[in-house]
Amino acid sequence: MSDITDAATYWDAYAARTAAHAAEEPAFGWTQYPHWGPGRELLGSPRTALELGCGRGDAVAALAGAGVDATGIDLSGEQHEYAQRRWGEVDGARFVQADVTEFLSRTQQQWDAVYSIWGAVWFTDPAGLLPLVHDRLAPGGTLVFSHAPPVPGAYGVQGMYANGFKGKAVFVYRWSYEPGQWAALLGEFGFTGINARVQPAPDDGLVGTLIVQAHRGG
Ligand SMILES: C[S@@+](CC[C@H](N)C(=O)[O-])C[C@H]1O[C@@H](n2cnc3c(N)ncnc32)[C@H](O)[C@@H]1O
Repeated sequence: MSDITDAATYWDAYAARTAAHAAEEPAFGWTQYPHWGPGRELLGSPRTALELGCGRGDAVAALAGAGVDATGIDLSGEQHEYAQRRWGEVDGARFVQADVTEFLSRTQQQWDAVYSIWGAVWFTDPAGLLPLVHDRLAPGGTLVFSHAPPVPGAYGVQGMYANGFKGKAVFVYRWSYEPGQWAALLGEFGFTGINARVQPAPDDGLVGTLIVQAHRGG
């Protein structure tokens, strides 16, 4: 019988499935292909950064190692525990177990950069999340996120059966849009300087990566 009863336990199960891929060293990248595509330069030169859905925390550790005061939020107790154990001693790296919407709703802190690598931005309704992110970005701050491009024609909220079709009925959601649709949504919520695109994969015919950058006006 599956232990998945909600989004947090869905991501705990994901953590267990992907544990074998844990990085030896801090690593920062936006795409699903190691050493492919742009790096942390997309964030500009932040003094402070917040990752939404940081998973094992490799990117937070990489930023902290480069002198950024970096915080990673993750809903999953398993992911949080791993990140804390593996990278918690790195100077400038901090990890919090929380749902991003709840966390952003209760903090007054602002960050120079907020980012999400195939993380919580993909799995949270943008109508609720984007205004919170805009508010918690310092003036002139940068939002960057990446995830899979949409399946053509399948836009907006997408549902998944967390326990398969014969299991307990638990639902997990993600939101998919074309680059132009992301740009329009971000514009509606006050972001400026928006650059939304699909980074091609290393080989023809493979799935690319949607990468979006946006700013809070200064
Ligand atoms: C596909 S993993 C990506 C993790 C990491 N960014 C990486 O690149 O390996 C998605 C992560 O987002 C987290 N997540 C999903 N929804 C979330 C939410 N509402 N609040 C916080 N974290 C969330 C999951 O727990 C999971 O660790």
